[in-house]
Amino acid sequence: MYTSKIIGLGSYVPEHIVTNDDLSKVMDTNDAWIQERTGIKERRHIKKGDGNSTSSMGVKAAEIAIKRASLTNDDIDLIVFATLSPDMYFPGGGVQVQNMMNMKTIPALDVRNQCSGFVYGLSVADQFIKTGMYKNVLIIGSENHSGGLDMSTRGRSVSVIFGDGAGAVVLSRNEKEDGSGILSTHLHSEGAHAKELCVEGPSMECWVPEIIAKNDKEFTPYYAHMNGQFVFKNAVVRFSEVINEGLEANKLQATDIDMLIPHQANLRISQFIQKQFKLADEKVYNNIQKYGNTTAASIPIALTEAWEEGKLKEGDLVVLAAFGSGFTWGSTIIRW
Ligand code: ACO
Repeated sequence: MYTSKIIGLGSYVPEHIVTNDDLSKVMDTNDAWIQERTGIKERRHIKKGDGNSTSSMGVKAAEIAIKRASLTNDDIDLIVFATLSPDMYFPGGGVQVQNMMNMKTIPALDVRNQCSGFVYGLSVADQFIKTGMYKNVLIIGSENHSGGLDMSTRGRSVSVIFGDGAGAVVLSRNEKEDGSGILSTHLHSEGAHAKELCVEGPSMECWVPEIIAKNDKEFTPYYAHMNGQFVFKNAVVRFSEVINEGLEANKLQATDIDMLIPHQANLRISQFIQKQFKLADEKVYNNIQKYGNTTAASIPIALTEAWEEGKLKEGDLVVLAAFGSGFTWGSTIIRW
C-alpha cells in the first residue's frame, strides 16, 4: 500500500472586494452584526465580465499548484472537483477543467459535498493513490456563490456569509516512505438534516416549470435556505467528534496538533473548536475575515495561505476538518 502527500498548493480569489458596508447599501444589514455573528469583514465576488467562473477560478488555482509541485498538466492522472456552484447543472466542473487545461483524457470526478467537499475529495484521491491506481491527483475546491445569492434583505442571513474563490492541491504518491503525508481521513453524513441547509431547486423534485408557474416572490427554492442556529449547533459537535476520531485513529492527542485548519464556516465556530481543544491562537488558521465562507474552496485557500506564510513546517501535524450541508463532515490528519 502506498501513501499520499500534498506536493503543490495554489489558490485564487477574484479581485473585486465586497465589504460589509457595501452589503449594507443593498440590504438591511450592518458591519457590526456581520462581524459579531460571523467574524467576516469582507469577501470577494466575481464581477460580471471579469472572466471568472467556478471552473476558471479552479484552473487558476490548479495551475499554481501544479507549478509548485514541479509537474506539468500531462503528469496529472485524475481530477477531483468539489463545488456546490458548478458553471452548468451538468456536466460538472471537472471536465471543464480538463478541457481548459488541455489535459489528456484523464478521468474527472465531481464531488457534491458542499462545505465538506474538499475533505471528501482529498479522501477519494488518497484512496486512489494508496491502491497504486494513480500517482498524481489534482483536487480543486471552487465556488461562485455570488452568482446565486439573494442580495435583497430577504436573503441577508445567508448572503452576508458566502464568498467566491478557489483552492487546489496536487496529491501524489509519497516515494520516500518517511512517514509524512496523509495519515488518515474520516468521513460522515447525516441526510436526515438535508433540508436544514440546501438549495431545493431547480431539481427533479422542484422543476423549472413549477417555479415559473408559481410566480411567487416568496417561493425561492433556487436560493440557499439555512437554519443557521441548527447548523451552528450541529457543526460544533461534529467538528469536535471528527477531529477526535482522527486523533484517536493515529494514537495522537490534541496537544500534538501543530496546525488546525477548519473549514471557514464562521469565526465563532472556529473559536469554539479552538477552545474545546485548548489550542493556542497560532495553532488555528482563520482567514474567513477576508473571504467569507467559500465552502469547498475554504480549506484549500486557507491551507495554501498558511503554507505561503511559512506556517506549515516539515514534520508538523496538520489537521483539516469540515462540516456542512448534507449534513456531511470529515477530517484529514496530515504529517507535513
Ligand atoms: N444583518 C442584520 N440582521 C440580520 C441579518 C443580517 N445579515 N441576518 C439575520 N438578521 C436578523 C434576523 O432577522 C433576526 O432578527 P429578529 O431577531 O428581529 O428576528 C436576528 O438578526 C437574529 O437572527 P438569527 O438567525 O437568530 O441570528 P444568529 O445569531 O443565529 O446568527 C448566523 C445567524 C450567523 C447564520 C448563525 O446562526 C450561524 O453562524 N450559524 C451557523 C451556520 C453557518 O456558519 N453557516 C455557514 C454555512 S454552513 C457551513 O459552512 C457549515
